Amino acid sequence: MDVQEVPRALSEALRRTMVSEEFKQRFGQTPTLWAQAPGRLDLMGSHTDYNECYVITMAIDRNTWMAARPRSDRKVLVRSLNMEGGGEFDLNDITHDTDSPWTDYIRGVAAVFQDEGYTLHGFDGLIHSTIPFGSGLSSSAAIEVVTATTLKMLAGNWEIEPVRLALLCQRAENEFVGMNCGVLDQYSSALGQTGHALLLDCRNLTARTATLHDDMRVAICDTRAERELTGSEYGERREQCEEGARRLADFYPAVTHLRDLTLEQFIAHEADLTEVVAKRCRFIIEENQRVLDLADALSADDRAAIRALTEVSYAGAHDLFGIGAPSMEAMMKAMRSGPGVVGARQTGAGFGGCMVAFVEAHAVDAFAQYVSTRYRAETAIEPEVYPVRAAVGAGPLDFSGKT
Ligand code: GLA
Repeated sequence: MDVQEVPRALSEALRRTMVSEEFKQRFGQTPTLWAQAPGRLDLMGSHTDYNECYVITMAIDRNTWMAARPRSDRKVLVRSLNMEGGGEFDLNDITHDTDSPWTDYIRGVAAVFQDEGYTLHGFDGLIHSTIPFGSGLSSSAAIEVVTATTLKMLAGNWEIEPVRLALLCQRAENEFVGMNCGVLDQYSSALGQTGHALLLDCRNLTARTATLHDDMRVAICDTRAERELTGSEYGERREQCEEGARRLADFYPAVTHLRDLTLEQFIAHEADLTEVVAKRCRFIIEENQRVLDLADALSADDRAAIRALTEVSYAGAHDLFGIGAPSMEAMMKAMRSGPGVVGARQTGAGFGGCMVAFVEAHAVDAFAQYVSTRYRAETAIEPEVYPVRAAVGAGPLDFSGKT
């Protein structure tokens, strides 16, 4: 995706003015409806979602806005302040777009909701995002979820549970875009809660809050190294996990996913799997336990446990799950030795992109400075290191009462 340099740290008022003016220029009128959907950061649980396991995730205060205005026909015209190109399509005939592939997230959502019987209206829409693209913070899911939210508002608000909205956005990504992701990204973007991370059960699609101690922050450490999620690695990992579950179901018939296995059960039949599948399975089963342990460690503010769990998660992702990159190694080294660091690990799919650190609140600035300097010295890449807060999930942007 081509990313234009659009300032990310804008006040809401400035951002609104900028988007409004741009909308007027491109579409000749002002927007009548505004929606937002946030990016997400997972704090523990790499690749656990599609294994129906647990994950700790939070929606972050980086989000995607859609400013929109209904049209009288069935056309959708979309543009973005961050990405080149744009698209125009007819809701009666939704096709893919190879010139501006990012519009496929929008097309896919429209196609899936229409297929499910939801009434759709044509609209002009302008997107502005403060989520860096392709860096593992779910910029794609945010486009999907903001599109679904916009379509819902344009139709006078369909009756739909946020979980179902998230699942249909996931389906758009699986079936229309062709990326076989789990539900983590769309769930987090649709159901995030201000001030809280969520311990999400990806089997039952229920969550409870997991709250960080007042004195602790999470910082995103963006390696800014290229990362390609639709490459084959993600799908391969998923297939290997599924193969493991299928194979182990020969011994434990109730098993449908790796979620259903204890570590002891796995160990008893580890030798019946190929070496690579065994490694993938071991990682997921252990990582799932780490998610539950981290939830306890966060609520007890047990910093030694947070450090140990994040360390082992990173090592396992690298050694067993085969995800990692030289840029991540360099970032991990910098994060581990940063002032005030409590723990650090990978996030997202984990092939480059962003990483996450738990940092003592008072040390966040010093940490960001130290990590940036050290990483830059080692890689000659300028990273981006910044704290984020847990933010609310997708919904209308209400500017009433604001100037
Ligand atoms: C990507 C996918 C998610 C999840 C993570 C890894 O973000 O979209 O569904 O599998 O990778 O945890």
